Amino acid sequence: MKSSKRLNGPDIAEKTQCPGRKKRLACMKTLIVFFSFTSNVRTLATAIRKELEAAGEVDFAVIEPKRVRTGLGWLARSFLPGWRAPIRPTITDVSRYDLVCLGFPKWTFACPPVNQYIRLMQPTQGKKLALFMAFGGFDQERYLRSMVRQVSRRGAVVVATLAAKRSSIRENGHLGAVRLFCCQAVEVVQQAGLPKGENTQQGGKNPRLRSGTGR
Ligand SMILES: Cc1cc2nc3c(=O)[nH]c(=O)nc-3n(C[C@H](O)[C@H](O)[C@H](O)COP(=O)(O)O)c2cc1C
Repeated sequence: MKSSKRLNGPDIAEKTQCPGRKKRLACMKTLIVFFSFTSNVRTLATAIRKELEAAGEVDFAVIEPKRVRTGLGWLARSFLPGWRAPIRPTITDVSRYDLVCLGFPKWTFACPPVNQYIRLMQPTQGKKLALFMAFGGFDQERYLRSMVRQVSRRGAVVVATLAAKRSSIRENGHLGAVRLFCCQAVEVVQQAGLPKGENTQQGGKNPRLRSGTGR
């Protein structure tokens, strides 16, 4: 599905255009997979999907815990950094994707269903991951860094990050940051796929980890 409503500014197809690139853009395969308890991460995921559909094929998958719990029930468990909650079957084989966008809420020290997803996802060695997160209002940077470390330990390469505040998402203040996040992720994937000599836009530099902010 192509989005008819474009956000302000250059879209991904325009931004990454260079000889021979259009063809590759059309083949880029992305998985957007996320956990959302109160729908803010879902809102981010939907906006990311609209942007990335301009860059190729996008699959959309949710992480759902097997057991339904209340907010208080999750709060207690979010204090246990290593705890993993069983999840329902979802796309965990990411071998066919050029890019995986993994979304989660900021939960105290950990989000147990997301811990479990990261454990099940395969293969992760060298896989390009873009992490996006919704948060209430505190401790988001430390948390995002810990998530980057968690996926990096499994060999994944984090190509972009996005932290968007709940209040900003509810006022549609996240859209610019989402566009930047998507452009960064697509650019890294495209740069990696380009034969030597075509790598002109970054002067050969790898913009490995960059942050977008929706604050
Ligand atoms: C169990 C739990 C723990 C949370 N811990 C934090 C926190 O430590 N810092 C913070 O900024 N927000 C915290 N929040 C708020 C969420 O990060 C925020 O509401 C986010 O937008 C939720 O995303 P979602 O609507 O997709 O579930 C917490 C929410 C829950 C339910």
